[in-house]
Amino acid sequence: MCGIVGYIGKQDAVNILIDGLRKLEYRGYDSSGIAVIHDKHLTVEKAVGKLTNLEEKIAPLAVKGNIGIGHTRWATHGKPSDANAHPHTGEKGQMAVVHNGIIENYLYLKETYLAGEHFTSETDTEIVAHLLEKFYDGDFEQTVIKVLDLIEGAYALVMVCADEPDKIIACRKGSPMVLGVGEGESFIASDVPALLAYTRKCIYIEPGELCILTQEGIEIKNHQGEVLAKEIHTIDWSAEAAEKGGYEHFMLKEIEEQPAAFQRAMAGRIKNGRVKFDDFTLTKEDIAKWRKIYIVACGTAYHAGLVGKTIIEKMVRIPVEVEIASEFRYRNPMLDEETLVIVISQSGETADTVAALQEAHDNGSKVLAITNVVGSAIARAADYVVYLWAGPEISVASTKAYTTMLLAQYLFGIYLAQQMEMITAEAENDLLAQLQQLPVETEKMLTAAYQSQIQQIAANYEKVNDVFFIGRGLDWAIALEGSLKLKEISYIHAEAYAAGELKHGTLALVTTETPVIALCVQEATYDKTASNIKEVKARDARVLAIINEGDTETAKFVDDVLAIPRINNFLSPILAVVPLQLISYYTAKIRGCDIDQPRNLAKSVTVE
Ligand code: AGP
Repeated sequence: MCGIVGYIGKQDAVNILIDGLRKLEYRGYDSSGIAVIHDKHLTVEKAVGKLTNLEEKIAPLAVKGNIGIGHTRWATHGKPSDANAHPHTGEKGQMAVVHNGIIENYLYLKETYLAGEHFTSETDTEIVAHLLEKFYDGDFEQTVIKVLDLIEGAYALVMVCADEPDKIIACRKGSPMVLGVGEGESFIASDVPALLAYTRKCIYIEPGELCILTQEGIEIKNHQGEVLAKEIHTIDWSAEAAEKGGYEHFMLKEIEEQPAAFQRAMAGRIKNGRVKFDDFTLTKEDIAKWRKIYIVACGTAYHAGLVGKTIIEKMVRIPVEVEIASEFRYRNPMLDEETLVIVISQSGETADTVAALQEAHDNGSKVLAITNVVGSAIARAADYVVYLWAGPEISVASTKAYTTMLLAQYLFGIYLAQQMEMITAEAENDLLAQLQQLPVETEKMLTAAYQSQIQQIAANYEKVNDVFFIGRGLDWAIALEGSLKLKEISYIHAEAYAAGELKHGTLALVTTETPVIALCVQEATYDKTASNIKEVKARDARVLAIINEGDTETAKFVDDVLAIPRINNFLSPILAVVPLQLISYYTAKIRGCDIDQPRNLAKSVTVE
């Protein structure tokens, strides 16, 4: 998804913009650009491809200035190219605009207000720059307001004007942005990591707010033009935490951060044998009112929701439906005050999940958000929030966010059961004690010896085209996540099936060329899964089984096994996914893939 950076102050804007854009690379991009003003002259430079292409282009030009905006683009309207990269300017080259999101009525605006003008790109963004220049009458702020009244869609826009080089103007409607408060300088960015090297004081921008950044400070106005007193948040992430810390890839770093993430996610939430959430309390009456729960999310977060269904249904016997956010609101879901909607989103900004949350609110349902990002759109809009406390996740492939999503749901499920008095003290103590063992148990799968075993197994997948994942119950939910991880970063076609379903069609595809990864962790379904493994073995597929430590049986009929530490079977999904994350990582590495930024994908998907 596009990344935006803006700076005004006394320092060299170019370095700050490039540095900020680099911190946003994790969002995925195909081109980049900057616009800088010096002596009322606007210079725009853009380059398709990696940020280094832009740096190489601007180095000999000695671009300078103390005010500027920058952008990494993830194509929506128009292919990746120098011309389509942002910033965009109007015909006179007097105003520059960077944009994240979509201007839905751009064709109408072009035909209605800009007939006869010459355009250099295929983007919707260029229309905004042209409109600004067309309406400019010596008052930049009023011109922006006039243009904003015309445009429709979800967007974050940051704009500069060569005739008024003392300010940057920004606004958002949908796409996230955060302001950085400095001493004699001001910053804006799509996400906090771009600001951390310069300031820890930040302000989250709400939809519809207009921000005017100057060297002296930042003014934020509402739609009526009234100046707002906004809360300044202090970010406590270290800059290092958002960077690689010696690892070759963020993904491996984040996989190995899971034990620490689990500790953080539980810290302060388990007190005297009970689960507590700081930000909300649900009474027995509140919970008893829910006749149904929806869990709504996308991608990996959706897979986490599949585990959540089992957790909640087991703990409090309330029926749970898990829905893909991009489908949810289009199928007229049965929402009312007696329905709880749980939205799960690492970024807290996924457009489809935000829309699902809105749908729930519009129909009178309360929303609980499970998210990693404090101050994100989803966190702000939800009635109750459970933060993951996973720390920043930079790799596009979600790992520690997924496992902390599971952990948050276990904690929430136990909490519900306690409030409803549906769990015995003994069962509760056992579950909480085992949850607290997770950091130590996970470490056992992160040792050099364990990872070297996985590297050897991953070598089997270097040249394959298709992999099947199978499992039953909670093992199936984990299989789905394992297959997404593999396809996402190694570009191998992978499918996950409920193990019993293979023989209803897909078994026809199983040959010696299609390795199978079988999850054999759930004891209740072990025998049935073992039979399904024998079915694929009979078709000569090479089988890797993920087993519980101490299982000596499975190795007798598969080719490879990877054991996970033994834990209460109900909690084992959190451990069972770790070898799958590592297999994906090492397979992608052998295949030479761009692990942290897989092709065509973005970390934060803020378009529907
Ligand atoms: C995870 O590996 C994926 N990159 C993707 O499926 C992701 O989980 C999905 O886009 C949802 O993101 P969110 O958790 O930020 O809402």
